Amino acid sequence: MKTLIKKGTVVTASETLQADVLVEDEKVAAIALDLAVQADRTIDATDRYVIPGGVDVHTHFDLPFGGSFCSDDFGTGTRAAAFGGTTTCVDFALQDYGESLRQGLDRWFEKGEKAQTDFGLHMIVREVNDQVLKEMDQLVGEGITSFKLFMAYPGVFMLDDAAIFKAMQRAADSGALIMMHAENGGPIDVLVQQHLAEGKTDPVYHGLTRPAAMEGEAVHRVFKMAELAGAPAYIVHLSSRDALEAVHRVFMMAELAGAPAYIVHLSSRDALDALQEARDRGVAAYAETCPQYLYLSLDDLARPGFEGAKFVCSPPLRSKDHQDELWKGLAQGDLQIVATDHAPFNFKGQKDMGRDSFADIPNGLPSVEDRVTLIFQRVRSGQLTPSRWVELIATNPAKMFGLYPRKGTIAPGFDADVVVFDPNRERVISAESHHMNVDYSCYEGMTVWGLPEVVMQRGNVLVENDQWLGTEGGGSFVPRSRFQEP
Ligand code: URP
Ligand code: ZN
Ligand code: ZN
Repeated sequence: MKTLIKKGTVVTASETLQADVLVEDEKVAAIALDLAVQADRTIDATDRYVIPGGVDVHTHFDLPFGGSFCSDDFGTGTRAAAFGGTTTCVDFALQDYGESLRQGLDRWFEKGEKAQTDFGLHMIVREVNDQVLKEMDQLVGEGITSFKLFMAYPGVFMLDDAAIFKAMQRAADSGALIMMHAENGGPIDVLVQQHLAEGKTDPVYHGLTRPAAMEGEAVHRVFKMAELAGAPAYIVHLSSRDALEAVHRVFMMAELAGAPAYIVHLSSRDALDALQEARDRGVAAYAETCPQYLYLSLDDLARPGFEGAKFVCSPPLRSKDHQDELWKGLAQGDLQIVATDHAPFNFKGQKDMGRDSFADIPNGLPSVEDRVTLIFQRVRSGQLTPSRWVELIATNPAKMFGLYPRKGTIAPGFDADVVVFDPNRERVISAESHHMNVDYSCYEGMTVWGLPEVVMQRGNVLVENDQWLGTEGGGSFVPRSRFQEP
C-alpha cells in the first residue's frame, strides 16, 4: 500500500521544507519535491504542516491510585492521544504489593491489548527484594529500560531509602534509568493530617501541605544515594526552588561521572537556572516540563468552591511567575522534552471523593490530547520555531527514551507515524468535544489554533477530519533501548 502526502510543509527537528512524503506499507519510503509516484492514496497537505507523530513519555492509563483508577484506559487514552497528534505513549506499569515485577508487567501488557497506538513501558517498583532486583535486569533486556521509584505517598507507593539505594545500584549495573518522584512523604503526611484536624479541607491545602522544602530534601537524598550507587537518576516532578541546591549537586555529579542527568517535571525558574548553568559548563544535563506547569498555576488550585480539585496533582502547581522562564527554557534548548503526566480522574465521582478532605482528591491531571496543540501555540505566536516544537514533542522524547531510529522523525526507514497538522484551524478546548475519558478539561474555554487533521500510525490512518478510523488493539508494544542523549 502506497500513500503519497503531497504539497505539505514537512517539519523535522532539523529542517522545515516543502516536500512530498511517500509512505509504503508501515514505513516512510521517501521525502522529495514533486514525487512522481503512482500511489494507492494521495493526501493533499497544502498549507499544512507534516510532522512526526508525537511521543509522550509520561502517561498513566488505568492506574489504580487515590482509591480510584485513572479514567482513561489504554483504549480511550491512546485514542485521545492520537486525536491530539500523539502516536506513541510510554506508560508506567505498576508492581502490586506482594507480587513480582513480571506479574505487574504482565497485567500492564493485558491492559495494553486495548492500545490503539504504539506504546512503551516504564516500570513502577513498589517493593524491592532479591527477586525484584534480578527481574530489573531481565526487564531491561526486554525493552523496559527505566524504573520509577517513589519517596512520596506512604503506604501507597513509597519506598524506604535502603530499597531505593539497592534499586539504584542495580540500575547502575544494567544501564537502566531511575526516575524519582522526589517528595518526602512522611512529613507531608503529618502536615496533611494536622491541616485536616484544623478543618482546612479545601483543595488549595493540597498545595500548601506539600512545601517545596520537602521536595528539596528528597532531591538531596536521591542524589546522595545515586552518587554512592554510581547510578544516573531522573527526578520526577521537580518543582521548587528549594531543590535548587540539589539540582546543582546532580549536575556536578554528572560532570564528574560523565553520566547524563535528567530531571522530570521541571517546573520552577530556579531549577531551570541551575540546569542552564550546568549546560553552559558542558554538563550532560537534561530535563522535561509539562503543559500544566506552562499554563496553570496555584491560582487554579485556589479557584473558589471545589473547582480547585480539578487541578490537584503532585507536586502541586506553583506560582505563575515561573511560566515565562520555562517557556524560554524550551525555546533556548535548556529543556528537552514536554511530556504530560496524563493522570485523569473525573470531577464527578472521583475528584469529588475529596469534598470533605483535599487528601481524598485523587492526584493527577488530563492532557494527553492537548499537548501537541498547546505547545504549538508558541509556534503560532512566533516564540518557538516549528522545528523546535517537533523536537520537544516527538524527536527528543523518542531519542532519549530509546525509541529512535524507529519513532520521532520523518525519514526513510522510520515508522510512518505522520501527522498532517492544520495550523490555521481555530477551535476552543472543551470537555464537550475532547476525546479523553474525563468529564472536565483543565483548559476549558481556551481558544487555540491548530488541529491534527490526519494522524497516521505505521501507514494506517487513525484519525481523519475528526473521525476515528483506528481499531482497539491496533497499537503494538515497542521495546526501548537504553537512555540516549539527544
Ligand atoms: O499527581 C500526579 N502526578 N499523579 C500521577 C502519579 C504520579 O505521581 O506521577
Ligand atoms: Zn510522580
Ligand atoms: Zn506521573
